[in-house]
Amino acid sequence: MAEHIGIVGAGYVGLTSAACFARLGHRVTCVDADESKVDELGRGEVAIAEPGLAELVGQGLADRTLSFTTAQAELYGADLVFLCLPTPPAEDGRPDLGVLEQVVPQLGRLLRPGCVVVTKSTVPVGTAARLPHLLGRDDLPVVANPEFLREGHAVEDFLHPDRVVVGTDPADSPAARRVARLYEPTGAPVVATDSASAELAKYASNAFLAVKLSYVNVLAELCERFGADVREVSRTMGLDARIGPEFLAPGPGWGGSCLPKDTSALLHAAEAAGVDFAILRDAVRVNARQRARVVRAVRQAVTGSPAGSLAGARIGLLGLAFKAGTGDLRDSPALAVAAELARAGAELTAHDPAVGCVPGMSAVQVVDDPYLVAKDAAALVVLTEWPEFRDLDWARLAASADRAIVVDTRNLLDPDALADAGFAHVGVGTRSRRQP
Ligand code: UDX
Repeated sequence: MAEHIGIVGAGYVGLTSAACFARLGHRVTCVDADESKVDELGRGEVAIAEPGLAELVGQGLADRTLSFTTAQAELYGADLVFLCLPTPPAEDGRPDLGVLEQVVPQLGRLLRPGCVVVTKSTVPVGTAARLPHLLGRDDLPVVANPEFLREGHAVEDFLHPDRVVVGTDPADSPAARRVARLYEPTGAPVVATDSASAELAKYASNAFLAVKLSYVNVLAELCERFGADVREVSRTMGLDARIGPEFLAPGPGWGGSCLPKDTSALLHAAEAAGVDFAILRDAVRVNARQRARVVRAVRQAVTGSPAGSLAGARIGLLGLAFKAGTGDLRDSPALAVAAELARAGAELTAHDPAVGCVPGMSAVQVVDDPYLVAKDAAALVVLTEWPEFRDLDWARLAASADRAIVVDTRNLLDPDALADAGFAHVGVGTRSRRQP
């Protein structure tokens, strides 16, 4: 049955949740403190480039099942209120709950008795248990319902989740079942558990993905030493149902606004609990090491030595975002590599289909024409796996470059096709050192 759902916070989790709950037949009131953002959204202007999101927002506005406001008071009367507030890492890497601790007491003063309060954003284990205290009331049932949305796939992941997790104390309470019912149309399996398990499962999932990625990045290093091919090793591993094929592609390291934040938060939580989470600490250490590995490969490509100087070398970068399908630069490994190349004295030109500029990084000249990054370049570096880069005219790039060699940190390109175009290809974890 249709519920009146409040969403607090219109960021990529909140806006996706609001639009998708409206799509699932509910009436949604989305509250955000940013007046200009609320005005834009009310006009159907969606700044977040998530496939399908703008259409769902437009449909909700047209059907009058979705509205945006800055007035928290409009949440009175809501049957459920979802907290989609930012919980960014503080300086020391611990989650900063400042916004949540400021807003929740305000909600406690205005929500109708019996309204279910749901934590959707990733929050430290124990937050749901603290919420009645923060709300200043104990007549508002609390449910932990963590999101598992990937950037670039948020709508798809919301409407077709692998699982729905609802955490309450005790587990499987009427409030848990009420939240689970919202997702019934998705057909996804529901895990009704206690709130601490629900909250920890979110961190545990993301941290495991990070460990899996660091594992394959070390495998890539090993493949280079053994003359093996990490793509073949990954393919073989992925056919084991217990391992699965996803998240087995090496890269310049993992980044984005979630994995680094959640691994850091979990490490701090483990340390505070006196648990030595060495495997996760090492995955983070390995991840940080990937940037230096890429720089060494660029030195090798340009000078013939992994320790050669890049001073004054013109390097063209293809990709700046932390992954393809988004313009998000938060904790982007591509930016970390660019910063190290700049520190090594290279002159950098970069192109990314979704990035027009890099605030605060004057060392990188961002161009909107991908062919400009090859002009007089001593080497090109693929850092983000945009499919468009495969379709570039690599013969034209070769004609414009000073040296036609590309360090492909994503194994995105076909070495044979590049050799035909006169371009040498250096892959990651492969034997591909193809010369034209
Ligand atoms: C992640 C989780 O996937 C999602 O469930 C959670 O809710 C939010 O955090 P996201 O941050 O959007 O989603 O990025 P994701 O698609 O998971 O990629 C994370 C990083 O891993 C990216 O830097 C990506 O390039 C890298 N990656 C991914 C690889 O290097 N190799 C792979 O095979 C897959």
